[in-house]
Amino acid sequence: MNEQTNKRTNESRHKRRIRSFVRRPGRLTPGQQRALDELLPRYGIDVECMDLRTAFERRAPLVVEIGFGNGQALAWMAANEADKNFVGIEVHEPGVGRLLRSVEADGLDNVRVLMRDAVEVLREQCLPDSLDEVRIYFPDPWPKKRHHKRRLIQVPFLELLAERMVNGGILHLATDWAPYAEWMVESLVEVPEFSIEGDPYVERPRWRPQTHFEQRGQRKGHEIFDIVCRLVR
Ligand SMILES: C[S@@+](CC[C@H](N)C(=O)[O-])C[C@H]1O[C@@H](n2cnc3c(N)ncnc32)[C@H](O)[C@@H]1O
Repeated sequence: MNEQTNKRTNESRHKRRIRSFVRRPGRLTPGQQRALDELLPRYGIDVECMDLRTAFERRAPLVVEIGFGNGQALAWMAANEADKNFVGIEVHEPGVGRLLRSVEADGLDNVRVLMRDAVEVLREQCLPDSLDEVRIYFPDPWPKKRHHKRRLIQVPFLELLAERMVNGGILHLATDWAPYAEWMVESLVEVPEFSIEGDPYVERPRWRPQTHFEQRGQRKGHEIFDIVCRLVR
C-alpha cells in the first residue's frame, strides 16, 4: 500500500461514524417475523423517501420518536394524538416487529416506521424545517466514560436536529440515568436554538406514557428526568 492510499484508509477509518447502538441479533417471534414480512411494506418508509412528511396521505404535524424500543409508548401516543402523524425510528428488529403488530391491531393509520440508524434518517430523509416534534425516551446511557462518545445525544446530533426541526418545534428527552440527564442539558446549552429557561427538568408531560426502559430503571430505584425544550431560531 503506498503512502497516499494508507493515508486515505486512515482518514476513512477515522471518519467512520461511531454508532449509538450495537446490533443485537435478537430472536424474532413468528408473529414479529410475519409483521416484518407483511406489515413493513405497508407501514415502512422507503430509504429513497427524502421527506418524511410525504410518507402520509394527509398533512399533519409530524412527530418523530427515535429509538422506540418495543414501540408500546409510540402506539399509545399515536392513538392519543390522532391529529398528528408519527414516524418511529428503531434499529432493533424485534421491537419494530412488535410495534407493527400494535399498529395493525389498533388500526393506527398515523404511524410509519423506519428500521434504520436515526442519524442517517435525519441526514438523508428529512428536509430542513420539517419536523414539528422529536421525542427520545431513555436512549442507551452508555455509562462508562470510554463509551460516552456512543451516546446518541451529542452536540452535532442536536445541531442536526435543530436544522431539521421547525421554528417553535418541541424536543422532548427523557432518561433515568442522572449523569446522562446532566450531559443532555450541557449539550443543549451548546446549541443556542434550543432554549431552556429555568429548571431544565419537568414533570412527565401528559403525552408521554411510561416506557419499558423507564419501568426497568424505576425498579432499580432510578430517578426519572424529562427535558422539554422549544426550538427558537
Ligand atoms: C434503552 S432503549 C429505550 C427504548 C424505549 N424508548 C423505552 O424507553 O423503552 C434505546 C433504544 O434506542 C435504539 N437506538 C439506539 N440508537 C439508535 C439509532 N441511532 N437509531 C435508531 N434507534 C436507535 C436501540 O435499538 C434501543 O432499542
